[in-house]
Amino acid sequence: MFGPRKSLGSVTQHAEGQSLAKTLSWPHLIALGVGAIVGTGIYTLTGVGAERAGPAVILAFAIAGAVCACAALAYAELATLIPAAGSAYTFSYTALGETLAWVVGWSLILEYSLACSTVAVGWSGYLVGWIQAAGVHLPPELLAGPHGGGIINLPAVVVALSVMGMLVAGTRESATLNIILVVVKLVALGVFVAFALPAFNNANLHPFMPYGFGATEVDGAKRGVMAAAAIVFFAFYGFDAVATSAEEAKNPGRDLTIGIVGSMLVCTLIYMAVAVTAVGALPFQQLANSPEPLALVLRSLGQPTAAHLIALAAVIALPSVILVMMYGQSRIFFTMARDGLLPQSLAVVSKRSGAPTRITLVTGVSIAIVAGIFRLDEIAELANAGTLLAFIAVGACLMVLRRRAPEAKRLFRCPQPYLVGSLAILGCIYLLFSLPSATIVRFIIWNLAGLAFYFAYGRQRSALAKG
Ligand code: ALA
Repeated sequence: MFGPRKSLGSVTQHAEGQSLAKTLSWPHLIALGVGAIVGTGIYTLTGVGAERAGPAVILAFAIAGAVCACAALAYAELATLIPAAGSAYTFSYTALGETLAWVVGWSLILEYSLACSTVAVGWSGYLVGWIQAAGVHLPPELLAGPHGGGIINLPAVVVALSVMGMLVAGTRESATLNIILVVVKLVALGVFVAFALPAFNNANLHPFMPYGFGATEVDGAKRGVMAAAAIVFFAFYGFDAVATSAEEAKNPGRDLTIGIVGSMLVCTLIYMAVAVTAVGALPFQQLANSPEPLALVLRSLGQPTAAHLIALAAVIALPSVILVMMYGQSRIFFTMARDGLLPQSLAVVSKRSGAPTRITLVTGVSIAIVAGIFRLDEIAELANAGTLLAFIAVGACLMVLRRRAPEAKRLFRCPQPYLVGSLAILGCIYLLFSLPSATIVRFIIWNLAGLAFYFAYGRQRSALAKG
């Protein structure tokens, strides 16, 4: 019923001209992970989270982080068991069968592409704030898409297309530049904490949970700690981008474990520090829905220079998130095309750079279009829905493969796999249903369209089914 499954041995063997070059080691992978994780989630969605949960946005970060930690452990084991491009999609192809793998791959398109678009829009917010602080005012029609009251979000389109150009130029160069950008991003968050923490005021944390815990919908918007967790969840993912590069890792066993688990831990600690600092420094109502909440906090505290630096760092460094996520997306499309589920002509690898150029162009242009049209929160929520489904599948794959292939070589073994896998699945389901109903409906429509495409196209052309 769920279509054919890939065997564990076959997933790492590919036709000539369709294998990716092994160029990445663990420092590249940690940088890739932190580069993908720290971004618009902490820089911008902290404000949206505060609006939904009040000061308890701190708790929302902890909950989302705990769920992601379970998923990260599952990813780490699966990535070393199946070191082939495609992450959750490839894991599902091996453990759950082709049909469910397709659904997961189709959801990963939402995760990666929409995360790129979200970050492009978040970047645009900091850029515009930064330029306006310098006294330059741009026509508002060109700073937001039709859903945000303008015509097109031009800065978001420009940044998405620029990153696409970097990826087409070659993975290795891009990964090295990424390391520099990651350092900029982390130093800026350190500066934020250093300048804003002295203004910490206990009174700002009361009441701590003004909207309660569970997500409740009022006027189409959900409020409560879980509603906030469902949106700030965005801040945590990206570590799976490391898993999507498994095929390009020089030493997958050691490097991927360090890359995935290490980048997850580092980021969780940083987020807790930033969230406590932000809601401790200002009443949460002031943070709500600011397009640049961290800069806003510093300006409100009379630190315009620090605010300026944070905004500048966001403008310089947020593109690293787009870089990693766009990289992950092109690899997933590439893998699905190589498997015959998408047109094979997309899976051609450039002889010069060893990268799948054609698919990167298609991905980059689509991401730019979405970023030009839609609002930040609506894109982020749909990206989260896709990611949550992929994480649910990963939790299931972990347990299924432990049962089916207990003796297969795992370079990293997840502790308590059945507990961790179950927690990942239940946590993600809870988060998924804490998203606004409109998002859930869009997500269902997206997947129905995907299944229609699969049964009309991929099922007959599947390389595995054809043997
Ligand atoms: N975690 C990434 C971000 O927050 C996607 O931008």
